[in-house]
Amino acid sequence: MGRHARRAHGRGGRHEPWITGDDAREHAHQVRGTVDAIAVGTGTVATDNPSLSARPGGQEQGHQPLRVVVGTRETECSAVWRDENAVAVASHDPREVLDLLWSREARSLVVEGGPTLLSAFLRAGLVDEIHVYIAPALLGAGPSAVSDLGIGTMADALRGQDVTVTRLGVDTLVIAHLDGGI
Ligand SMILES: NC(=O)c1ccc[n+]([C@@H]2O[C@H](COP(=O)([O-])OP(=O)(O)OC[C@H]3O[C@@H](n4cnc5c(N)ncnc54)[C@H](OP(=O)(O)O)[C@@H]3O)[C@@H](O)[C@H]2O)c1
Repeated sequence: MGRHARRAHGRGGRHEPWITGDDAREHAHQVRGTVDAIAVGTGTVATDNPSLSARPGGQEQGHQPLRVVVGTRETECSAVWRDENAVAVASHDPREVLDLLWSREARSLVVEGGPTLLSAFLRAGLVDEIHVYIAPALLGAGPSAVSDLGIGTMADALRGQDVTVTRLGVDTLVIAHLDGGI
């Protein structure tokens, strides 16, 4: 779960589209190639227009996950995505998303973001595993990967278990399992 990179601009006007490096992005594409579906909210579609394809080795190849857009607004991109390997779910209820995916025989889902959709799945206790890609890059203030979860104290923090930490080039991947919701 989670997403590893967001577009940013480098110093001196140089366009540096990714926060994480090649190895982390390759890993994310490999993960995409192992799941039945990938979901983003309409906010991410409107901002990033992600392809949501699995491109290990830089090529779209092998198994491609079902592409899922969640939200009530019509986006130009989600209309384009209405092919046989894409579905728009006009709902804010993560359980409805899973029910629809189940009916499409999808049994595993990566929620790539953005923060609103990811938080809804976390609040509903529907996340089994989180993948956090950490890059040695500072951006200062800006949008966060997860929006407000209504957690007020460290004691109430949603903590992962069975944590594994992997170096991916200059980046670090933390995988943790979650046991229920908030
Ligand atoms: N840091 C990261 O890892 C990461 C990952 C992905 C995206 N992003 C960034 O996140 C930003 C977009 O943020 P976002 O929060 O707008 O993206 P989002 O979560 O992709 O989309 C939010 C929209 O999804 C719909 N929605 C679906 N389920 C909902 C629910 N349970 N509650 C409320 N709304 C729900 C709503 O739109 P409707 O009005 O259509 O219903 C809502 O406005 C972009 O800048 C993108 O680059 C960051």
